[in-house]
Amino acid sequence: MTPPDDTTPPEAAAADLVGIGFGPSNAALAIAFEETAPHTAGEPRSRMAFFERQPAFGWHRGMLIEGATMQVSFLKDLATMRNPMSRYTFMQYLKTKDRVAEFINSKTLFPLRVEFHDYLDWVARQFDPVVTYGAEVVALRPVTVDGVVAHLDVEARVTGDDGEHTVVRRARNVAVGTGLTPRMPDGIQESRRVWHSSRLMDRAATIGDAPRRLVVIGAGQSAAEATDYLHRTFPTAEVHSVFSRYGYSVADDSPFVNGIFDPKAVGAFYGAAPEVKRQLLGYHENTNYSVVDLELAESLYRTSYQERVLGQQRLWIRNMSRVVAAAEHADGVRVTVKELATGTSEVIEADAVVCATGYAPSDPLPLLQDVVGECKRDDEGRLVLGRDYRVATSDAVRCGIYVHGAGSEHSHGLAAGLLSNTAVRSGEIVDSILSVLAR
Ligand code: FDA
Repeated sequence: MTPPDDTTPPEAAAADLVGIGFGPSNAALAIAFEETAPHTAGEPRSRMAFFERQPAFGWHRGMLIEGATMQVSFLKDLATMRNPMSRYTFMQYLKTKDRVAEFINSKTLFPLRVEFHDYLDWVARQFDPVVTYGAEVVALRPVTVDGVVAHLDVEARVTGDDGEHTVVRRARNVAVGTGLTPRMPDGIQESRRVWHSSRLMDRAATIGDAPRRLVVIGAGQSAAEATDYLHRTFPTAEVHSVFSRYGYSVADDSPFVNGIFDPKAVGAFYGAAPEVKRQLLGYHENTNYSVVDLELAESLYRTSYQERVLGQQRLWIRNMSRVVAAAEHADGVRVTVKELATGTSEVIEADAVVCATGYAPSDPLPLLQDVVGECKRDDEGRLVLGRDYRVATSDAVRCGIYVHGAGSEHSHGLAAGLLSNTAVRSGEIVDSILSVLAR
């Protein structure tokens, strides 16, 4: 741990809660804090602050594909499962938009992704006074009082119209909700024509109206969506979907299996032995990882088959294959595809390559480097989290550090990186914060 640094001037009195990132996880936490924290210590809003590095609220904007739907029920919004009476539910959003009846008539639990984004944005706007956008948190500095770390100074680099400056906010509790980081395939870098799927929409708009050939790497939901999107958007382009599986595997969202995302499954998972946790993650990874919604897989199959019948093949499924090189040159990308069964390679001259190769949880350790020596780690070096998502620390740390979202999947299970349990989890974290503050 670095020496105590209680000379850093905080820009306001210590907040009860400072959140890093303002995606769905910390937005739900803001709601739970506002709705649960007692007003005796002042307005809950005046006791919390959030830093978000994007210039404005945005939830996976690069994948807001027209027609794409949510993979979770709208009832698993930011509040309903914890507090159905909340003013921040999806139903309240529909009411303010005057669309309740029309939404019901659509007979779906799964709204359009663009609609859910609008809902999240509607929530986020209501918290504008407590969120600083364009603010990347770069460090958490321990503040020591009487020999223990009582506070953390959350240091953010803020970029605005007037340039860059640093903001420091002192916190009694910090919630790390930094989500996911795009993962590129080994040996392939992002460039002008090689993109991660997280930037699909913005980058696709830069390649002109008539690309000849596009390559998508990956076999998960994002890969299938990108393939479908490019095929629809560029009606003269060939789209080559390259993956090492035999075929797109389908997501298991059957009711018994869906229970793995229930709040009570989180408790069961948390209490299980490491070996059982590993087994459960393995058994049920096909609820979320490298799998595609059945309807989309069927639709891509129909398209491919129809093109074959008509002798006008544009959609090429290159299964059992791997992209081993993607070399960008002045006019395109030379993509080398190796067929795994035969070991032979083929070169595709593409206008662009989309790497739908998934995400890794954002690593909280670099942010915590000034206190990491006091944080407990497991055999694999991961932070040990309590059931309440609080990082287990030595007695030298009194302030709370909470990690939620994808970064807690190893201890809390598959729901951690998804929206399913966000509302309930936020309530659990707020209860933990309030019980410590009350001591
Ligand atoms: P999320 O990644 O959304 O937000 C984290 C935020 O922290 C970001 O806004 C980021 O900018 C910010 N940040 C990171 N580091 C920072 C720093 N140092 N300083 C300041 N800010 C920082 N799940 C589901 O249940 N149903 C679904 O339908 C979908 N659909 C879906 C589609 C796509 C295309 C993707 C990629 C993912 C999904 N997901 C999903 C899963 C997804 O992880 C989930 O919906 C939420 O985004 C998780 O919310 P978080 O707030 O935890 O992370």
